[in-house]
Amino acid sequence: MMSEERKPLAQSQAEVTAEMDDQADQQVGFEQLKKYAEDLRKLHDAHKAKQAELESVYKQLMQYAESLNTTVAELKQSYQELNDAYLDTIYRLALAAEYKDEATGDHIVRIGRYSSLLVERLGLPQKQVQQILYAAPMHDVGKIGIPEKILLKPAKLAKEEFEVIKQHTRIGANILSGSKSEILQLAESIALYHHERWDGSGYPEGLAGEAIPLPARIVAIVDTFDALTSQRPYKNPYPVDKALEIIRSGRGRSFDGRVTDVFLENISEILRIKREVKPDEYAGLPGWAWSDRDAGTSSEANGETADENVSRKTAALSK
Ligand SMILES: [Fe+2]
Ligand SMILES: [Fe+2]
Repeated sequence: MMSEERKPLAQSQAEVTAEMDDQADQQVGFEQLKKYAEDLRKLHDAHKAKQAELESVYKQLMQYAESLNTTVAELKQSYQELNDAYLDTIYRLALAAEYKDEATGDHIVRIGRYSSLLVERLGLPQKQVQQILYAAPMHDVGKIGIPEKILLKPAKLAKEEFEVIKQHTRIGANILSGSKSEILQLAESIALYHHERWDGSGYPEGLAGEAIPLPARIVAIVDTFDALTSQRPYKNPYPVDKALEIIRSGRGRSFDGRVTDVFLENISEILRIKREVKPDEYAGLPGWAWSDRDAGTSSEANGETADENVSRKTAALSK
């Protein structure tokens, strides 16, 4: 009887114990949850702080990018200004040499543009098209080193004096040598070889054919054409047809055949450049003429420069 009465008590204790265990478990679970919540809050706070930090870094980066853009734009402008000044300076160097001779500044501008056109039509890279535009005008820069009493002598030149004039090729190359600039290196080669002839009868080295650097072969032909067709104070320009006849007759003798062909194929563009780059008002040596100085001489036999030679021939023919 007693045991039957105790039994419910025992059950009740067990239940209480179980209940207490449950409560303890619940307590642990709650504590655990609280801890999780705490951890989550901390994570959330850390994430928020990280996000704020990232936002601030992003803003800073945007500022850097903006200021970098400004710096790049400023550098680009400075580079452009420096490049313009550099190109302007080498053009003025070429111009200084031209003032010693009969030509005005428009001649060297046309030589640059004609040469550039031919380089392009020969299918050479765009970089070379640009470089020769600035290098070709310096072809006669060596005239700076030729004594004026010879260069400007208004009478027949002795053979030795022509030998001195021929030195303008080497002097020009010396003036331009040793530069790191690709334009000046090209200009050096043009200055040295622009009086070489395809058949080897030119100077200073007497190179023939493809041994003559291509840019110099190009300048040789456009320099001759421009001298033939240019107005000078003492002569009228040679008619274009007549000038082209002379160029054609020089094919394979004075001039590279392939370059001559490309020149003739593009004559309409050459003439467009000629119309665009008109002569400036004549600014040098008024009243002086090659034809007076050299009347009766054979310039070719004397190895005179192509430009001088052609100018004189033209002057003689136009009188
Ligand atoms: Fe020359
Ligand atoms: Fe020239």
